[in-house]
Amino acid sequence: MVDLIEKKRDGHELTTEEINFIIKGYTEGSIPDYQMSALTMAIVFRGMSEQERADLTLAMVNSGDQIDLSQINGIKVDKHSTGGVGDTTTLVLGPLVASVGVPVAKMSGRGLGHTGGTIDKLESVNGFHVELDNEEFIELVNKNKLAVIGQSGNLTPADKKLYALRDVTGTVESIPLIASSIMSKKIAAGADAIVLDVKTGAGAFMKTLEDSRELAKAMVRIGNNVGRKTMAIISDMSQPLGYAIGNALEVNEAIDTLKGEGPEDLTELCLTLGSYMVLLAEKAKTLQEARALLEKAIENGSALEKFKVFLSSQGGDATVVDDPSKLPQAKYTYELEAKQDGYVSEITANEVGTAAMLLGAGRATKDSDIDLAVGLVLRKKIGDQVKQGESLVTIYSNFDDVSEVKQKLYENIKIADSKVEPLILIHEAITN
Ligand code: URA
Ligand code: CA
Repeated sequence: MVDLIEKKRDGHELTTEEINFIIKGYTEGSIPDYQMSALTMAIVFRGMSEQERADLTLAMVNSGDQIDLSQINGIKVDKHSTGGVGDTTTLVLGPLVASVGVPVAKMSGRGLGHTGGTIDKLESVNGFHVELDNEEFIELVNKNKLAVIGQSGNLTPADKKLYALRDVTGTVESIPLIASSIMSKKIAAGADAIVLDVKTGAGAFMKTLEDSRELAKAMVRIGNNVGRKTMAIISDMSQPLGYAIGNALEVNEAIDTLKGEGPEDLTELCLTLGSYMVLLAEKAKTLQEARALLEKAIENGSALEKFKVFLSSQGGDATVVDDPSKLPQAKYTYELEAKQDGYVSEITANEVGTAAMLLGAGRATKDSDIDLAVGLVLRKKIGDQVKQGESLVTIYSNFDDVSEVKQKLYENIKIADSKVEPLILIHEAITN
C-alpha cells in the first residue's frame, strides 16, 4: 500500500489489479484508515484517469451484494438526482414512464436532509409500504412496470466506509471520487441504463455550472465505460424545484403534475428526464417521440392511473389521488407576506430547505422524527412580480410559533425593484 500511495502521489496511474487490491484490503480492514486517507488525498491532487475511475467504481460494486433484476422484462432504467430541495421528480417520473411501458424497479431510501427521501414521501399515503421481498418486488415490476423497495442487502460497503473516511479527512471534493461513489451505488442497484439529474446552484452539491458539468461528464463516462448506457442533464437548483417542499405536500404536487396541472419547472424537468429514460429503454426512437408519448400519458390520464395502481399494489390508499385532503394535514398555516413591491430575485434553495427542516419536514440526524404533514409551498418563483402584502410562501406547521422559520425565509427570499429574468431550468444534456 505504501508503494501505491507513493505512486499516486507522484502522479502515476494505478492499474486495475492495484485498485482491486486497495478496495478489497480497505473493505476487509487489512488496509488501515490512515493509509487510505493518504491515498485519497493524493487522488484529490493528482486526479484519476478514465480507466482508474471505471476500475474504482467496479471494485466498489464488487465489494458487496448486487441486485439482480434479470427476471424483469425489458431494459431497466434508473434515474438518479445528485440531490436538491423540494425535488419531487421521482414521485412523478416513476408512474409517468411506467405508464408508457418503461420498467421502473426503484430502490429508495429515507435519508437525511430538508425533507424525507422518496420512501418517507410515499409513506404519507395511508397504508403504503416498501417492505417487499425480492420476489414480490420483481413480480410487481413485471405486472405494473413500477415498484419501490427499501434499501436492502449489503450494497457497496467499500463506498460506505470510504465516504465516511473522506467526510472527515477533507477528501470529499474530488470529481473522480464523487463520480465513482455515486455510480457504484447505481450500478450495484442493478439498472441496465441510468439517467442522471446533476443539479447546480445554491441548493446543490455542486454550486457552479463548471463543476456540475465536470461531475456529469465523469459519471456519464464511468457508466458507459462499464457497460451501462448513461446520460445526464444539468438542471438548476439555485431555487427549489416546483412549489412544494415537504413530504405530503410533495405527494400532492406530484399528483397535480401527473394530472398536467403541476408547476411549470417540475413538469418540464420530468418530461426531459422522462424522455431520456424512454429513449434508453428503447420505447421510442427519438427524444421528440419519447416526449410526445409522455405528454399523451399525462393528457389521457394513464400516468395518473398508473400512480393509483402503484400505490394500491403496495398497500396504499389510492383514493388520495382524487381526494388529496386525505393526506396528512398540518394544524396551522401561515402566509409569509412580501414587505415590498417588486420582483422576486432570489430564493436560496438550501436555506429555504433548512426552513422546511426546522418545521420538521426533514431529519437533521438519522434518529430525528419526521413530520409528513408540514413544509412550505412557494407562491412565487424567481422572476415573478409581487405586491407588498401578497404571500410569498405558505407555511404548513404543527407548531403555533413559526417566527424563526419566517425570519429564515425573509433572509433568503429577495425582492428587487426592477424586472428579473426567470432562471434557466435545464442547462445542458451530456450524452457521452
Ligand atoms: N454523494 C455520494 O454518494 N458520494 C460522494 O462522494 C459525494 C456525494
Ligand atoms: Ca417540489
